[in-house]
Amino acid sequence: MAILDDIRRFWDDDAATYDNAPGHHPTSAAVQGAWTAALESLLPRPPSTVLDCGAGTGFLSLMAARLGHRVTALDLSSQMLAKLRAAAGAEDLDIATVVAPAHEPPTAPADAAGFDAVIERHLLWTLPDPVAALRAWRALAAPGARLVAIESMWGDADLLEALRGRAWNVVKRFRGTAPDHHGPYPVAVRGALPLGTGTHPRAVAALVAEAGWTTPRLIRLHDVEWTSKLEQRLPERLLGVVPRFAVVAT
Ligand SMILES: C[S@@+](CC[C@H](N)C(=O)[O-])C[C@H]1O[C@@H](n2cnc3c(N)ncnc32)[C@H](O)[C@@H]1O
Repeated sequence: MAILDDIRRFWDDDAATYDNAPGHHPTSAAVQGAWTAALESLLPRPPSTVLDCGAGTGFLSLMAARLGHRVTALDLSSQMLAKLRAAAGAEDLDIATVVAPAHEPPTAPADAAGFDAVIERHLLWTLPDPVAALRAWRALAAPGARLVAIESMWGDADLLEALRGRAWNVVKRFRGTAPDHHGPYPVAVRGALPLGTGTHPRAVAALVAEAGWTTPRLIRLHDVEWTSKLEQRLPERLLGVVPRFAVVAT
């Protein structure tokens, strides 16, 4: 798929600076703690076999490995995974990495019946066919396994969030804050992605159900939002933070 080459190139180029954005890689101990508590409550009891799709520089993979899970990290971008491997090495964490598109995931380790959990954060929006990927993950899941899709609500999926996003961009420009990415996502690529211009919990839950995962549950990540908000100065604090949620299914 030619579109995947464009997407891979973008993330290979973004790898060097991706972790500089606090939204991607929080340095605050409180925000990290809230994320750890959230992930711990969403995953099965450790040790379980976890596939992290679109793992990037390893935000979820590293956290899951620290919690005692056996993690396989998949990503289209070898440069993003190189960052993950360096971070895992620095903490002496054993994480398997696989360069592959999300709809072609690897099988679970030979001694496992399948993955006990498939997790992702902020991947679905950039998939040309999210349902195909969600179906492929389900095919590799162990009986009773769970999906944990962690997303945020942004873009044109909701008018108020779109307005908040615009206000945020104005404040960032005013402050001279570095952008979250090295450049803009290719417009033509974005337009070809079902969630490319915005993500809504309704849409994520519907895609998960369409792919055959059962009883999707929606969980708002209040503590991650709360701790992130405590880190903000004025006027950013008045604008609040992007709503974060997880869709969990079996
Ligand atoms: C927004 S980043 C999220 C990274 C990480 N999950 C996190 O929470 O920080 C999106 C990641 O998805 C990867 N990605 C994009 N399209 C993909 C695809 N079709 N298959 C696998 N990975 C993909 C990118 O290389 C990038 O690392």
